[in-house]
Amino acid sequence: MGFFDSLVLPQSAEHITLLHYMTKLILFVFLPFLSVLIGGATISVFYKNKGLKENNSIFLRFAKEIIELITINKTAGLLMGLLPMLALIFIYSQLLHLAKVASVTYLIFSLVTITIGVILIFTYRYSLSVKKIIDSSSNPNDEAKDLSENLSTLNNKSGTWGLIMLYVASYFFIAGTTYAIYPESWDASFSVFNLFLSLPIFTKWIYFIVASHAIAGALILFTYFYWEGGRQELSDDFATLVKNSTLKITLTFALAQPILLLINVVLLPSTALSVGVFGFVVIALFILFLVFHFLYDMIKNSHVKFSGWVFILLIFVSVSLIISEQLSLSNSTRKHSAILAADYEVKKKELLGDKGIAAISGAEIYQARCASCHAFDKRLVGPPYKETLPKYQGNIEKLIQFIRNPTKIDPAYPPMPNPGLKPNEARAVAEYIFEKYKVQ
Ligand code: HEC
Repeated sequence: MGFFDSLVLPQSAEHITLLHYMTKLILFVFLPFLSVLIGGATISVFYKNKGLKENNSIFLRFAKEIIELITINKTAGLLMGLLPMLALIFIYSQLLHLAKVASVTYLIFSLVTITIGVILIFTYRYSLSVKKIIDSSSNPNDEAKDLSENLSTLNNKSGTWGLIMLYVASYFFIAGTTYAIYPESWDASFSVFNLFLSLPIFTKWIYFIVASHAIAGALILFTYFYWEGGRQELSDDFATLVKNSTLKITLTFALAQPILLLINVVLLPSTALSVGVFGFVVIALFILFLVFHFLYDMIKNSHVKFSGWVFILLIFVSVSLIISEQLSLSNSTRKHSAILAADYEVKKKELLGDKGIAAISGAEIYQARCASCHAFDKRLVGPPYKETLPKYQGNIEKLIQFIRNPTKIDPAYPPMPNPGLKPNEARAVAEYIFEKYKVQ
């Protein structure tokens, strides 16, 4: 994307390493947030529809409480959803600067769709609350009934479309980050056809959606039964609904994770592989098995003692997968990073060259500082080089010394003023005139 490319600064190898660390930190916050948002909103919309169909107020209450739990408030939505996304777009434009790959474009699509999705989900949340208030009035007039009906349409639409937008946004997000890991697909990344038919993107996305539901389920368990001693005011049938449904959701989606994870690893390109990439996947699998153990025990013995553990462990699973994924990104882009670092060195020389510090071109110095008084074969202010250079042949050090500190030599000429060159500049120009002299 041209706009972001123009904001990119040249990166040294050290900066690129730093960018990889920053990406990990941002993803540690952003991915669990997006997961909880997607998984939680899906569960909420599911129970809302079920509640409406079966005319069951407990399901409706559950739907309302979940969406309030996961959306927290508008500031949190902005801070944890949109800002990290913007930061990631900047980082990926830096990392992939000069690379012909559509990653940044897809990340921008993702930002746009997430923004729309988040707005719709907040609309869903507030329309659900307001409708509940109106419906709770004991003696509604016609106006209130109309309003309630409109709210219910708004609520259905915003819930469904909010979910669709978030699913689309997550697909674009996965596409953008996954393409970066597959340098051999960079050219293909611009085709919409490839975007929707790429197996690695599709399986990774499915993994993300599945993991999102497990994490959202675990977060609900965590807040209802663990955080600050759990919620005490729950009625029995509501507590049973929360417990049974979330335990089931968490276990089902957690169980699907290992196989998807393995498929994702098998599909990684050889350029992305390293011991670390495998190591962190193995750690994630190990933690997942602990999660199964806790969930199984809770379901079998009908308790919620391990709710806190399950949530924290699932967060650890995503942390170790993020590390693994970022390692494969830096493996895959190693060659590209070297190109960027080399480009940085060139740019640095250009910048410093203006101040005469680093970029030294003998030809340029010669043109600017010597050519006015010297030519190769005729006398100007100073003697022609063809007369004076032979005596320095094989003794460039002596020539450099003269250039830096000219002495009076030939009575036929005025003395040469000191050109005030630095040692490396004097060397460059000495080498240049020798070079040129040899050719002539
Ligand atoms: C203002 C005019 C002037 C400029 C500028 C100038 N020179 Fe000279 N240069 C002279 C003159 C005059 C002499 C003859 C001095 C003498 O023989 O005492 C000379 C002599 C020389 C000689 C011959 C020294 C010898 O041993 O006979 C060399 C080599 C030389 N200049 C190189 C350079 C280089 C390289 C530069 C640019 C960095 C440069 N000069 C810039 C005027 C200039």
